[in-house]
Amino acid sequence: MTQSNWLIKNATLVSDGRQWQADLRVRNGRIERIDADLDRRADETVLDAAGRHLLPGMIDDQVHFREPGFPAKGDIASESAAAVAGGITSFMDMPNTNPPTLDATALADKYQRAAGRAFGNFGFYMGASNDNLEAIKAIDPTTTPGVKVFMGASTGNMLVDDPQVLAGVFAHAPTVIITHCEDTPIINANMAAARARHGDAIPVTEHPLIRSREACIKSTRLALELARRHDAHLHVLHISTAEELDLFQAGPMAGKRITAETCVHFLHFSADDYARLGTLIQCNPAIKDATDRAALLAAVADGRIDILATDHAPHTREEKAQPYPAAPSGLPLVQYALVSALEHVHAGQFSLPTLVERICHAPAQRFGVLDRGWLREGLFADLVLVDLDSPTTVRSQDVLGRCGWSPFEGETFAASVVATWVNGHRAWYQGQVDPVPAGQRLQFSGVRG
Ligand code: DOR
Repeated sequence: MTQSNWLIKNATLVSDGRQWQADLRVRNGRIERIDADLDRRADETVLDAAGRHLLPGMIDDQVHFREPGFPAKGDIASESAAAVAGGITSFMDMPNTNPPTLDATALADKYQRAAGRAFGNFGFYMGASNDNLEAIKAIDPTTTPGVKVFMGASTGNMLVDDPQVLAGVFAHAPTVIITHCEDTPIINANMAAARARHGDAIPVTEHPLIRSREACIKSTRLALELARRHDAHLHVLHISTAEELDLFQAGPMAGKRITAETCVHFLHFSADDYARLGTLIQCNPAIKDATDRAALLAAVADGRIDILATDHAPHTREEKAQPYPAAPSGLPLVQYALVSALEHVHAGQFSLPTLVERICHAPAQRFGVLDRGWLREGLFADLVLVDLDSPTTVRSQDVLGRCGWSPFEGETFAASVVATWVNGHRAWYQGQVDPVPAGQRLQFSGVRG
């Protein structure tokens, strides 16, 4: 039963910094009414959600769904199905595909591919390269959430290291600029030194020393400097060190031109986990120390981190089975991201309304997503119902993403995702993804922040 008129009764709603008990009516794909004690209408399906929490669907502004170019790792259909199973109702996909998204034609091709196949709502970033500045200047800011700049080389070889081009992007991009910050010369020098010490048998425990904290800090400082010089809107992705956090301002996101993000794996794992999980948790930037993790958790709480996302980056088991550093960097995360983040709510590290701010409200606001991101009358009915006390054990046979594995396998999280609605369509319920893909193209206001 996936019809689009719903009456969700007795849930604890979480939105706009508060939690309250109410009923919520979904009609024609939108939230029609939020009130106490709504009566069922004849054409509505009722779901009694007593004891459960209803949140706006998570808006994940950082995923790699691998289409076009890498169908063995995933595609828009497979990865968005995993996303809705995890409570993610909208996603924004990165440009390091094949071909990379470097002009309006490649961008339009992605939107065309997603139409009718995506289980969640979709937006696609433009990428920057050393030679597409004119294409960046010409972007219509209502067609993309932003321009992604790899200020450090990572999967896909999209490094922008020409200082003049970087300055041009920061001066002229008509959208938010989002950056991957790691200094490639520092990383290359660290890698050469590790090879000198270990030959071809570099242990994976060296990864956070090669992709070092100094590399992150130097590159993030440069991005901030460029943003200030050119008065740009900058959003720095996947912050991984304690030191970088102090470069950002605490407090609410409204009014900030420079914002920061971290990802669920940096809040969950630490360098202590390389011994157990090896290349399965190898990603760029690298997962750092337990002290960094503690600092990141505090920054999610106080707002130096504005947005929490996934950086879902699937690679096959076979690829990951290669020894370091040949194994590719990246973790598949969308399906268990929300339940892993709720673990920190359980532990008292931040509140549930704060989590909803970081995963729903802030990404909607930052990228000017129209009509999504809050539980408010009139907005699209992108919803996730969670049970905070019904555990989820992560098992490989339940993984829906194409690569079929999760770095969380064997772990039990306290919460579970009971149901997910996308545009009023129940996309996930009782362990099943509904076969009808109900995702729509995200609409962007073109106004940043
Ligand atoms: O670990 C990563 N994987 N970091 C990136 O920057 C890219 C991503 C990927 O596409 O695999």
